[in-house]
Amino acid sequence: MLSYNPFSELSSHISPMIQQAYVVLMVILVVGGTVLDMIHKKSAKYFFENAEKAKKNATRSVGAGEKTAIAVQVLANEVLTSGEFTNPRRRLSHLLTMYGTIIFIVTTAWMIFGYSSMPAPSILPVLWHIGALMLAVGGYWFWFRIRVDVSAEGLPWFRFERSDLFIVSLLATSTFGLIWSWTQQAAGFSGLAVLFFVLFVISSTTLFGTVLWSKFAHMFFKPAAAFQKRVTRADGSRENLPASYDLTDPAVQAKFPDIPEYMGKNPPNMGKGIRREKASHY
Ligand code: HEM
Repeated sequence: MLSYNPFSELSSHISPMIQQAYVVLMVILVVGGTVLDMIHKKSAKYFFENAEKAKKNATRSVGAGEKTAIAVQVLANEVLTSGEFTNPRRRLSHLLTMYGTIIFIVTTAWMIFGYSSMPAPSILPVLWHIGALMLAVGGYWFWFRIRVDVSAEGLPWFRFERSDLFIVSLLATSTFGLIWSWTQQAAGFSGLAVLFFVLFVISSTTLFGTVLWSKFAHMFFKPAAAFQKRVTRADGSRENLPASYDLTDPAVQAKFPDIPEYMGKNPPNMGKGIRREKASHY
């Protein structure tokens, strides 16, 4: 079931050239959407202006070697292991969604470009199905249970806004892709299989064609933002935010005399207020 390659049978109905042209078109749409997004939101301009501002507030300079080490930390922490998520459920769901998407997209392109005229090794369709399933599990978990709208604000799961375009088109692409593969395996490229194939193409075109309006481009912007954030901690500019003070430190108490006045000479560390209770005020 998992080793069935749906693109192989598809090739006798839709030529591999057309399939390849479609993939190239999707790549162009993603690149174009990301560039337009940057121009529209002026995010690159803001990013560099902000980096310049941070440099002015820096208390020490960060050299090329240290910047390389920071880039490696961002890769290992924020990018490869979704380390920005402190909630383990959100982190696991994001890892499933992210790696599922990558495996699903890479194996799709590999089968369409590398094996259009010969059978693909069975590991590729197996990975294609596993990638789609990982994406579906992580994505539906996020949609029904984890996202803030339903978990913290009590809004119904079926409420759809433009900001949901990314997750919904991801879910539709993986779901229709899997159903297309299984219906085609059962009865060939006809009837239901054609219907689900058309739905698969519509949802993947929506996913890759709406980058300008969806959260798609966060996968390119977030690593840059995480890098810049770490640089501001290393150079002491801290985005103009105060350091995390030790409230028992006499120097801190001299700077903020209301601390000993209201909390005594030895105030307890109460942690971050935002983590004190689960947000569920609805
Ligand atoms: C194939 C790659 C990726 C996929 C499919 C993916 C998917 C997602 C999804 C579905 C969400 C929830 C969006 C929503 O609120 O509707 C999300 C959020 C998030 N992603 Fe990714 N992601 C990917 C790559 C990355 C990378 C490389 C990073 C970081 C370096 C990252 C960091 C984040 C963060 C921090 C959030 C929370 C955003 C927020 O709540 O504002 N993601 N991602």
